[in-house]
Amino acid sequence: MRELIEKMPKVELHLHIEGSLEPELMFQLAKRNNIDLPYSSVEEVRAAYDFGNLQDFLDIYYAGCKVLIHEQDFYDLTYAYLKKAAEQNVMHTEMFFDPQTHTERGIELETVAKGICKAAKAAKEDFGISSLTILSFLRHLSEEAAIATLKAALPMKDKFIAVGLDSSEVGNPPQKFQKVYQMAGEEGFLKVAHAGEEGPAQYIWDSLNLLKIDRLDHGNRAMDDEDLLKELKQRKMGLTLCPLSNRKLQVVKDLKDHPVKKMLNKGLKATVNSDDPAYFGGYMNENFIAITEALNLSKRDLFQLTSNAIEVSFVNADRKADMMHKLNKWMKA
Ligand code: ADE
Ligand code: ZN
Repeated sequence: MRELIEKMPKVELHLHIEGSLEPELMFQLAKRNNIDLPYSSVEEVRAAYDFGNLQDFLDIYYAGCKVLIHEQDFYDLTYAYLKKAAEQNVMHTEMFFDPQTHTERGIELETVAKGICKAAKAAKEDFGISSLTILSFLRHLSEEAAIATLKAALPMKDKFIAVGLDSSEVGNPPQKFQKVYQMAGEEGFLKVAHAGEEGPAQYIWDSLNLLKIDRLDHGNRAMDDEDLLKELKQRKMGLTLCPLSNRKLQVVKDLKDHPVKKMLNKGLKATVNSDDPAYFGGYMNENFIAITEALNLSKRDLFQLTSNAIEVSFVNADRKADMMHKLNKWMKA
C-alpha cells in the first residue's frame, strides 16, 4: 500500500504555509534574521511539539512565525514546501496563509504575498506543481481587523483565490465574521472556513448559512448531526480532513476513530490533507499511509478521496480534467 500511496497523484486543499516551517529552516532563518529562539536545538523544538489541544499548538506555531521577516523568508518557506509536495506527487495544492500573524508584527502584507507568490511561480516552472493561495483571517482577532486585512489585500486580489478562517475556534463562532465574508464574496473571492475541528456542529451550520462557504475545512463534528450530514451531501460540500493533525491535537484519540471512512461511505466529498505538516508529523504521503493503515482503506477509497479533492478544488475544468486523467492512469495501473 505504501508504494501505491507514494505513486498516487495527489491534491492538497488544507495546508497552512506557516505550518510547513520545519525546525531546520526555523533555525536557519533565526540566524539570518538575528532572532533568539526559545530552543537550543532542532531536537528540542521537535520535543516541544506535544500538544494537548488546538490552543497549545497555536501558541507554539505563532511563536515560530517570528523568524519570518523578509520576502526571501516567505519565498524560502513556500519553495521548500512546494518542492517537498511535488516530490510526494502532489499535482496541485491550495495554501493558506495568515496575513495578520505577520502584519501584527509590522511586516507588510505585500512582503508576505510577494514571497509566497514568487515561490509558487518558480515551483510551477521547476517541478510542475500548480498552486493557489487562500488568505485566512485569524478568528481570535476582531471582525474589524479582518475587514482591514481584506481591504489591504484588495490591490493584489488577483493573487488570492479565496478567504478562509482559522485559529482558536471555540468562542469565536462564524457569525462574528458574517460581514467580512459578505464583503469578500462581493469582491469575487471564494470562501472557506475551519469549522467543527474543536467547535460544535452548529459552527458548521453557521459557516454554511451565514458565511456561505464554498468548502469546509475539517468538519469532523458534522458526525454529531445526521441532518447536517444530509445537508453537506446534498450540497456536494468538500470537507478537508487532516488525520495526523486530528491525532496530534487530540481531536481524535486514535486514528482508528477518525471519521473519514464513514464520511466516504455516506457519500460526502471528504479529502485527506496535512494541515501543518512540520508540526504534526507528516506531509500528504504520511497522512495517507497512517489513515490507510488505521482504517484499512482500499485502493478504491484512495481513488475516491483524491477524485473528491480534484472535484472540490478551485482550479478550472481543464486542469481538473488533466488531473483526473492522471489519477485514472494510476487507478488502472
Ligand atoms: N492554524 C493553523 N492550523 C490550524 C488548525 N488546524 N486549526 C485552526 N487554525 C489553524
Ligand atoms: Zn487548518
